[in-house]
Amino acid sequence: MGTFDASLITVPTIENDAGALGVLEDSALLGFEIARAYFIYDVPGGSERGGHAHKELSQVLVAVRGSLTVRVSDDVQSKAFFLNSPRVGLRLSPGLWRDMYDFSADCVCLVLASEKYRESDYLRDHSAYLDWLSNK
Ligand code: TYD
Repeated sequence: MGTFDASLITVPTIENDAGALGVLEDSALLGFEIARAYFIYDVPGGSERGGHAHKELSQVLVAVRGSLTVRVSDDVQSKAFFLNSPRVGLRLSPGLWRDMYDFSADCVCLVLASEKYRESDYLRDHSAYLDWLSNK
């Protein structure tokens, strides 16, 4: 059985008359040291992304512009998170399935990751994912 560990964090933000500046660097807040950052944008209306789990990778997702929904699940639970603020991050532990959809046209989703890109860390087939979970 998987350990469902998905939670929202508050992005520390410095705000003054010149605007706002969000900072993500604290590994105690993120749950890991950042090894990689990437961002998703220009997602065509109606498109879905995600549709996979990671074996070892942890991530924090932030909708720095616009909005999207991230449905997180394992073999027991499923929960949808609506991300629509640069002040909120979604922290995902390894071993969770995620589906991302309802991207707004202007959405820019920043993803911070605990490891470099490695395709062998992905579980892209849902039944293989459930098998992997049950053998953990
Ligand atoms: P994927 O992680 O499946 O994206 P999403 O979860 O947003 O749908 O990655 C999409 C493609 O991009 C896939 O072919 C792998 C590639 N990719 C990289 O080359 N480097 C990366 O850091 C990431 C995240 C993906």
